[in-house]
Amino acid sequence: MLKDDHRAVEQLFRRYTRAGDRAFVEKRAIVDRFIEELSVHAAIEEQLFYPAVRATVPDAEALGLESLEEHHVVKWVLSEIDGMTPEDERFDAKVTVLISNVRHHVEVEEGELFPIVRKELGPRALSDLGEAMARARRIAPTHPHPRAPDSPPGNLIVGTAAGVVDRMADTLNGLAQGAVTAIGDVIATALRREKPRVSPRGTRMARSTATQVRSGASEATEAAIEATRKAKEASDRAARTARATGSSAKAGAQRTVRAANRGATNTARATKAGAKGTVTSARRSARRTATTAKRGATTTGRTARKAATGTTQTARRAARETASAAGSPR
Ligand SMILES: [Fe+2]
Ligand SMILES: [Fe+2]
Repeated sequence: MLKDDHRAVEQLFRRYTRAGDRAFVEKRAIVDRFIEELSVHAAIEEQLFYPAVRATVPDAEALGLESLEEHHVVKWVLSEIDGMTPEDERFDAKVTVLISNVRHHVEVEEGELFPIVRKELGPRALSDLGEAMARARRIAPTHPHPRAPDSPPGNLIVGTAAGVVDRMADTLNGLAQGAVTAIGDVIATALRREKPRVSPRGTRMARSTATQVRSGASEATEAAIEATRKAKEASDRAARTARATGSSAKAGAQRTVRAANRGATNTARATKAGAKGTVTSARRSARRTATTAKRGATTTGRTARKAATGTTQTARRAARETASAAGSPR
């Protein structure tokens, strides 16, 4: 599955390099696709693949850490590209640097890391890992979050909550501002830091939606932290049992992956429930605002029509009076 992702991203890179210099719309569409592909791919590797590698293949520790740093650099560049327009003179340059970084990273993963992992984990643990990654893909973040933690348990909490918030912002444009603030909160809550002081901007509707998204995401994060704590306990128990029974590293890895899988499902369920509430209330508030605006518009329209009719009649009357004063009847 990871190799399929690499192929899909490479196709998009080729399409980008073939696009004309001024093909801004096409370039934006291609970039949006690889931002999503790479964000999801990096998140599932960081949540499941790299922890499994570190736990079971001690020889790959240094290579794994180097790969995480490469992810970090890629996510920074992606986050900058995400906020730029293709007309910007730095856009092509950033995409070119990104492409060469990703190609190098993929070469190391496929050429060095994957073969070691395949050999060490064996087919059963590999298939468990693949299944866990397929589930994690459905809730992974769709945008890059370079400030978020990239190893467990922090990345499980932030990644899952960020995934839900990203998807809310992707589907409901008006929620974008709240989502940006919410991601900052999610990271702060997961790391037990003070939340950033940000006041929503824009219309009353935008401000209230942003506040609702922020508080909904905050509740969802607390639920995610609790679910992840439970998953971590289960995973620690599994590792202890594996050690106590003298089971092989492979069996230990299988249990850890299964526990992480269960944890990810619980976390996602808790986060989704929180997010669903937020989206519903945001939609309700949007509907209310739309109805009020419509009513306002109808009243304004009626008043304007009445005023216009009045003005026309007055103007006609004045014209008639002027005409008769001038002695030429109309
Ligand atoms: Fe990869
Ligand atoms: Fe990677």
